[in-house]
Amino acid sequence: MKLFDVYPVNDIIIDKGQGSYVWDDKGQKYLDMYGGHAVISIGHTQPNYVKRLEEQLHKVGFYSNSVRIPLQVELAAKLGKVSGKEDYQLFLCNSGAEANENALKLASFHTGRKKVIAFRKSFHGRTSLAVAVTDNPKIVAPINQTDHVIFLPWEDQAALEKTFAEQGQDIAAVIIEGIQGVGGINVASESFLQKIRSLCNTYKSVYIADAVQCGYGRSGKFFSHDYAGVNADIYTMAKGMGNGFPVGGIIIAPHIQSSYGMLGTTFGGNHLACAAALAVLEVIAQEQLIQNALQVGQYIIDQVVTFPNVKEVRGRGLMIGIELPESLAHVRKELLFTHKIFTGEAKPNVIRLLPSLALRKEDADIFLQALHAILKNS
Ligand SMILES: Cc1ncc(COP(=O)(O)O)c(C=O)c1O
Repeated sequence: MKLFDVYPVNDIIIDKGQGSYVWDDKGQKYLDMYGGHAVISIGHTQPNYVKRLEEQLHKVGFYSNSVRIPLQVELAAKLGKVSGKEDYQLFLCNSGAEANENALKLASFHTGRKKVIAFRKSFHGRTSLAVAVTDNPKIVAPINQTDHVIFLPWEDQAALEKTFAEQGQDIAAVIIEGIQGVGGINVASESFLQKIRSLCNTYKSVYIADAVQCGYGRSGKFFSHDYAGVNADIYTMAKGMGNGFPVGGIIIAPHIQSSYGMLGTTFGGNHLACAAALAVLEVIAQEQLIQNALQVGQYIIDQVVTFPNVKEVRGRGLMIGIELPESLAHVRKELLFTHKIFTGEAKPNVIRLLPSLALRKEDADIFLQALHAILKNS
């Protein structure tokens, strides 16, 4: 059997990881400024994380949601503390798409409505509802197409008001990334998020904050939506939540009520997943990684804006987009193959940085020197 060929990969085999570094099978060391799509939040093979997973595996790895799992209760309490949303309710699943799928479904159950507002350049995942609210026709299969989704221009408050004025009674939810990731690192303004909050209040629609990429401390606050001083009704999470172990979840405001069978999953919230997620939160708190993300991120942004050939630098904390002219499409490859530094991209020419929140200033300096050297000679 061969693999179903859907990923255009770099010809590199990663064999080992530690902190913000990985090594290939030939022993070559790389600086990881991408964290495998924003997943490595506390660093590769972080010792407390490895220990907790190992210990849990020796006790019990999995049992289904047909029994009480105290680790889930412990995780909910810890997540409430670290995120500051102590009165919210936690539902655990396994990925970002699944988190958004559950959030949209729950919003529809709660309101009894079908329509959803999403935004241009959004990315919310590849499963049926998640891809339907994603603004990329290339990944929407005919079966995923629906007229329940209204796409509005990013940051267009007038369009948002008009849509609510015309169809507010039908709108189950607004779904928005606090910082668009795949769309190119576009930071939602505080006033835009506040407008969404107030319209959702008026029309009793559900505000869904997709925090899959921009959440979990990456922006320098636990949720990037926190910058606007608003509370969403549902936050969706995955990526950094398990530092590589597949864990996703949604947290749900207290006014949204549960009932048996409303949501469910076989794997979600299993013992190993909870152990991974707890280790991540413990390390985030102990090592003050949210503050670190803010400081090291700002350090990178402040430097990169002064570099030659940079069109714009966007982002917050350690979620940074560096927009280059299209003529400099080679920069990422050069970072990887000459300077041995992994970065991400957003089309057409944005370098996306999503490193571990434990990235140190001296690691950032290695990236900054390499980028400066390439841009200076471009
Ligand atoms: C904002 C956002 N939402 C949802 C997803 C989907 O997450 P997953 O790939 O875990 O399904 C992603 C993945 O890149 C994302 O960036």
